[in-house]
Amino acid sequence: MNENVRPSSMKRITDESLANAFIDEQVEILRKQIGDKKVLLALSGGVDSSVVAALLIKAVGKQLTCVHVNHGLLRKGEPEQVVEVFKNQMNANLVYVDAVDRFLDKLANVSDPEEKRKVIGAEFIRVFEEEARKLEGIEFLAQGTIYPDILESDGIKAHHNVGGLPEDLQFSLVEPVKLLYKDEVRVVGKALGLPDNMVYRQPFPGPGLGVRCTGAITRDRLEALRESDAILREEFAKAGLQGKVWQYFTIVPDYKSTGIKDNKRLWDWPCIIRAVNSVDATSATIEEIPYELLNKIVKRILAEVNGINRVLYDLSPKPIATIEWE
Ligand code: XMP
Repeated sequence: MNENVRPSSMKRITDESLANAFIDEQVEILRKQIGDKKVLLALSGGVDSSVVAALLIKAVGKQLTCVHVNHGLLRKGEPEQVVEVFKNQMNANLVYVDAVDRFLDKLANVSDPEEKRKVIGAEFIRVFEEEARKLEGIEFLAQGTIYPDILESDGIKAHHNVGGLPEDLQFSLVEPVKLLYKDEVRVVGKALGLPDNMVYRQPFPGPGLGVRCTGAITRDRLEALRESDAILREEFAKAGLQGKVWQYFTIVPDYKSTGIKDNKRLWDWPCIIRAVNSVDATSATIEEIPYELLNKIVKRILAEVNGINRVLYDLSPKPIATIEWE
């Protein structure tokens, strides 16, 4: 039997009782597999790695060490939430690495999208490797691989999984949710007690805000991006759209246009709103944001975000436009 193939007899996990049965079964399997050894996990705070962390905490507690790398490209409030949920509430061993300066220094003046992804991926592995070397007696590496990742093994996620570690840091893999689809991972996460805004989170690319701060990333433009994204998310949540729209975010491109404020000319960036619906990200349609809500978001971004003097709404479906701008 190929352990990477979902058996046809496996029931789709659609409710809490099925999730609890899965959790009980996995806890037992994990305890058997890991014994009294130690496990390491790169915890991004995305739903997949968060569910794996919660499962492992339940199964082996302090034998798990989670490493959360803040690369400066996370959304507003995310690193804080990882610390709050896993360290403060679940009492996990959590190493929080503030690598913001390292990443942003490496990314300075890098404008090619593929090169940016490469820099982020390579630096991530370097930081993770350094942390792994500081720990002793680790035998297992846990990963939030899910079934679609296996089905498209050269897919989107491959680049930000920590598969590129050197030979002396090759651990046995622990992948407890590798046969689950995304919706099942969410049901399991909910049953494990993870907060809703973690469980029903929209897809977020590995290179994070880096692909939405187009061209060479600067700290001030990245900050404008983070703040405008936070306003958009807040207003969507207030309007009851969280969890209903596939993906919604802002982009702040690396060019400016003229504005005027208090009789003074401004030379500032535009902010682009993107909100799309999709089933599997291979195609996407535009979310029709009600005009009143759109207007509210535009007003708030213009009033509250430094460096933005214009807000645009991207109405382009995929294809031909990809969901992300880079
Ligand atoms: P595109 O932009 O190709 O995106 O229409 C399709 C889906 O994939 C996400 N995406 C990425 N995810 N690393 C990731 O982990 C990446 O480099 C990356 N690029 C795009 C995107 O957010 C959308 O959900």
